[in-house]
Amino acid sequence: MIYLDNAATTYPKPEKVIETINFHLRNLGGSTGRGQSQWAIEISRKVYDVRTKVAQLLGVNDPLRVIFTYNATYAINMVLKGLLKPGDRVILSSMEHNAVVRPLRNLEKRGVELVFIPCNAEGVINLDTLRNQARQGAKLITVLGASNVSGTIQPIAEIGKISYDNDILFLVDGAQLAGFEPVEIDNWHIDAFAFTGHKGFYGPQGTGGVVLSSRLASLLEPLIEGGTGSKSEEEYQPVFLPDKFESGTLNSTGIIGLGAGIDFLLENGMDTIASHERMLRDYLIENLEMEKSINMFGLLDSQKTTGILSFNVKNQDISTITNILDRVYGIMVRGGLHCSPLAHKTLGSFPYGTIRCSFSHFNTQDELLYFSQSLKEILRRG
Ligand SMILES: Cc1ncc(COP(=O)(O)O)c(C=O)c1O
Repeated sequence: MIYLDNAATTYPKPEKVIETINFHLRNLGGSTGRGQSQWAIEISRKVYDVRTKVAQLLGVNDPLRVIFTYNATYAINMVLKGLLKPGDRVILSSMEHNAVVRPLRNLEKRGVELVFIPCNAEGVINLDTLRNQARQGAKLITVLGASNVSGTIQPIAEIGKISYDNDILFLVDGAQLAGFEPVEIDNWHIDAFAFTGHKGFYGPQGTGGVVLSSRLASLLEPLIEGGTGSKSEEEYQPVFLPDKFESGTLNSTGIIGLGAGIDFLLENGMDTIASHERMLRDYLIENLEMEKSINMFGLLDSQKTTGILSFNVKNQDISTITNILDRVYGIMVRGGLHCSPLAHKTLGSFPYGTIRCSFSHFNTQDELLYFSQSLKEILRRG
């Protein structure tokens, strides 16, 4: 099988991740922050090490500001629902994923005002419009770091500056950016950076989190409360980090596996992997651009995108093509709207969506050559 759906979740996972999880499940009982047994202490230390790795990779110096959740969606909900109140104004881009749009639409029903900033047909945000809206005031600006549909990378540092100059909190949905390009949360004035562990960090599903600024951490109400293993004599939730936002048993197995994924990323070089994915994207564009019926979406300049390419085919049904690719040729891509109807409206591919190919360290040019030949064969047969 050829797997080209790495924007959904990277596959295969590195051997190191599998071995680490296997070792942890076999050899370490106990639970993070619970009790003083040798194993409980060992697990707590390992989880703290991963917190440190995430903090270093994302440009913050305090690992306790890294909050682990189950995925980016949980992290984003935690921030939006813990912060926003009726009457608050939120500025967001027209490329956002439903992980942001759906909770915001729900909050809108309760009196939160939403202001959408248009992005152009290549998915790039209009900074002048954003600046004008920010001058009118808002509680929060939320923008995704990179699009899961077109791979378009947003100018996060510049948006952070606009947020900072206007004293507005800044949330970044970093699900597609983390692990692909260096991120500098503190230098870019980001108050909340949501990440997921199972994409560019090469970790297992069920891992992710959010890195919070100290000012947002003190403003934010926790989404859930409960046992933290700390201050157990008290009936009230601790207010210190990360315990304020980490109630219940942590997915320590997954988090330690995530740490191994980050090690894999750093050993192979984040830059080297990103260059490899960009080379594959260029190679696919080259192979498909002569096909008159294929229409590509987003930026063609791969230096400004992640390793994602989206296209559709004139007068052809997307799900028929993706099914044939899967069942006949053994190639897995993702067709449809990718949980991002707003992004497809912006790019001009709504309501049918696109066929999305997304790459990882493990894909090769040979796989893409086979993919291109298979696709052309399907198109010729009609
Ligand atoms: C841009 C973007 N935001 C948020 C998410 C949600 O991530 P998770 O599945 O980890 O909750 C995704 C997942 O595909 C995504 O691509």
